[in-house]
Amino acid sequence: MDPLLFAFALAFCTATLALDNGLMRTPPMGWLAWERFRCDIDCKHDPSNCISERLFRDMADRLAEDGWRELGYIYINIDDCWSSMQRDKQGRLQADPDRFPSGIPELARYIHDRGLKLGIYGDLGTHTCGGYPGTTLDTVAVDAQTFADWGVDMLKLDGCYSNDTVQQKGYPLMSKALNATGRPIGYSCSWPAYQGGLPPNVNYTQLGEICNLWRNYDDIEDSWDSVLGIVDWFSTNQDLLQPAAGPGQWNDPDMLIIGNFGLSLEQSRSQMALWAIMAAPLFMSNDLRTLSNEARAILQNKVLIGINQDPLGIQGNRLLKEKSGVEVFWRPLSESASTLVFFSRRTDMPYHYKNTLWKLGYLPGNYKVYDVFTGRTMPELTHQTYFTASINPSGVVMWLLSPTVHRVQTQEGANPSLLHNHVEEIARPILL
Ligand code: GLA
Repeated sequence: MDPLLFAFALAFCTATLALDNGLMRTPPMGWLAWERFRCDIDCKHDPSNCISERLFRDMADRLAEDGWRELGYIYINIDDCWSSMQRDKQGRLQADPDRFPSGIPELARYIHDRGLKLGIYGDLGTHTCGGYPGTTLDTVAVDAQTFADWGVDMLKLDGCYSNDTVQQKGYPLMSKALNATGRPIGYSCSWPAYQGGLPPNVNYTQLGEICNLWRNYDDIEDSWDSVLGIVDWFSTNQDLLQPAAGPGQWNDPDMLIIGNFGLSLEQSRSQMALWAIMAAPLFMSNDLRTLSNEARAILQNKVLIGINQDPLGIQGNRLLKEKSGVEVFWRPLSESASTLVFFSRRTDMPYHYKNTLWKLGYLPGNYKVYDVFTGRTMPELTHQTYFTASINPSGVVMWLLSPTVHRVQTQEGANPSLLHNHVEEIARPILL
């Protein structure tokens, strides 16, 4: 075959196979109701916290007015318990009329007017996990169209009250149905979480073709144990999970719980750092109206967000589990930069971790190092320099590294774009 023709044919095949909505080339960011507000439908006694249009408007106001939107947190996502217990006369889902008196299209307008996007929740089964009407195979098309007509920008499709056969058919069917509406709608699939999260039950190649992100594992809860369980599972299985991620297709270890009740500040920094390593979607589930300044500073750390949003979209992994209880995580970034996270599982006192970049697999050369949480540039390191990082119990030290001159490259003629001299320059490629 003529090579040009072959290239066209290949491009055509890829275009028809892949979820072709062009969305979420970097991990999506925003706010999601579930972990913090659950299925609180008691608007009579708890009007400001119940699942209602007021809650989503409040959060949209906060995203728009408190600097979140500019950092990339643009989705406001409804989770379970939003709908009425009955479909309407035409068989369409409808919002609970008491809690969403203005209706979802009006809420979508409110959110769009503030430069934000609206996400909604459905379930491929007879009922949602909370017992509300589900999307059965015969209602996939009508539900996709209803969401598009309402101006919805993202759908999380859960998998309670379902079975394997329905999921095998339904998840790809919804992908096609969303595409067929012509409205770009990001698609979050809970499918793998219902299949045990791992191959051979889970086909990550297929998921990358039909979904923009997917929940692989258990629900996050408001506790450090829950965060650790998730980190352990993703790290243990990283060889199977890591290759599945890339622009437009992300593993989702679930929501950020920073700003709630279960994490200390150290643990909050750890969740944020490890979610950045994992190229995870950043959906906060917290109360943005009452967030502490400390939690806000972690969630709004520009360099950290830039690392999470790196355009190469390569998921990082755990490099080492030391006997001391320190674990080292690494993620490659664009423009030859990279990030290292030193994470301590110790429970005694700050631990002085000593190593060299060479032993961590870095190429010979000199490296600029920027400490992501202190905001300080460290003295330049060579690959052989012994460094010491002081890591607090259940905390992290997170570095952004940028090579200055690689010896090999010097010999062959150094690339001037690698000659960074100031922290602004180190951080530049990843700053928003
Ligand atoms: C499942 C999901 C959660 C949440 C609830 C809602 O448990 O995994 O993220 O959506 O259902 O009922």
